[in-house]
Amino acid sequence: MQFQPLLEDIIATLRPELGRAGEVASYIPALARVPAERLGIALRTCDGEEAHAGDSTTPFSIQSISKLFTLTLAMREQGEALWERIGREPSGNPFNSLVQLEAEMGKPRNPFINAGALAVADRLVSRFDAKAQILAFVSSLCGEAVQFDEEVAASEAATGYRNAALANFMKSFGRIDNDVASVLDCYFHQCALRMNCLQLARAAGYLCRDGAHPLTGAPILTERQARRVNALMLTCGTYDAAGEFAYRIGLPCKSGVGGGIVAVVPDRLSLCVWSPALEPSGNSLLGIKALELFAAKTGLSIF
Ligand code: DON
Repeated sequence: MQFQPLLEDIIATLRPELGRAGEVASYIPALARVPAERLGIALRTCDGEEAHAGDSTTPFSIQSISKLFTLTLAMREQGEALWERIGREPSGNPFNSLVQLEAEMGKPRNPFINAGALAVADRLVSRFDAKAQILAFVSSLCGEAVQFDEEVAASEAATGYRNAALANFMKSFGRIDNDVASVLDCYFHQCALRMNCLQLARAAGYLCRDGAHPLTGAPILTERQARRVNALMLTCGTYDAAGEFAYRIGLPCKSGVGGGIVAVVPDRLSLCVWSPALEPSGNSLLGIKALELFAAKTGLSIF
């Protein structure tokens, strides 16, 4: 399959729609300043072939896409014990919702909603210098040094009242071991990782390669664990839009409010799209359309 002309065609088809619909995330002030008229796409196959088009090398705030990498680190460290603290069911609610936590005794539905990612961050903070480990891990996966955007992390810390509420509420149920401030600091920094589409397509490569490091082939996860991360992406990776994603795209996806979406075609390739304007569930509007076009034109789907 000729991926380079295909990606260029997708960008050319969608470019006229830039700026027409959707809203850039504004509840994190530093993100509100990102121009909406950006669109990039990149992929890397299991054999190492790469293709990219549009704004594919412009860095952006990866936000909740980071939850993939922290979940992976926690699964490596803790194995099955991780699931004593975190569920594996879709929530059907917005990513920052508090409603299920009280009835469910502070156990988050899944690792991709904010409460679940905070619980994962707590596991990492207990084990090592979490921020340094996250940077080293993600840099190794994409083969380039990546950095935190300290302005975005500070902006989110200054306005992250909901995340602080979620972490404190879980702490009240004895489900957070570390002090809330250090868990939030880790979480705000992971969300503030700055990467581009090509780096993310490379970094997610272990998910289409049965857990093998995208560049070295070393085991990152077992085959079974990689399959399970893909299952969680499909059912929970795009929050209350997960059913719509499965219907329209048919691939495991993980989105972030910076406008990025990572998608995986198991045993074939990993890809990333980016466009900052979002639909109401917090997923990139043109990113969804780009993935829909990709799935339709290639016939690649897990179904
Ligand atoms: O905690 C937050 O609200 C953001 N740092 C991340 C949310 C996010 O990316 C949700 N994804 N679509």
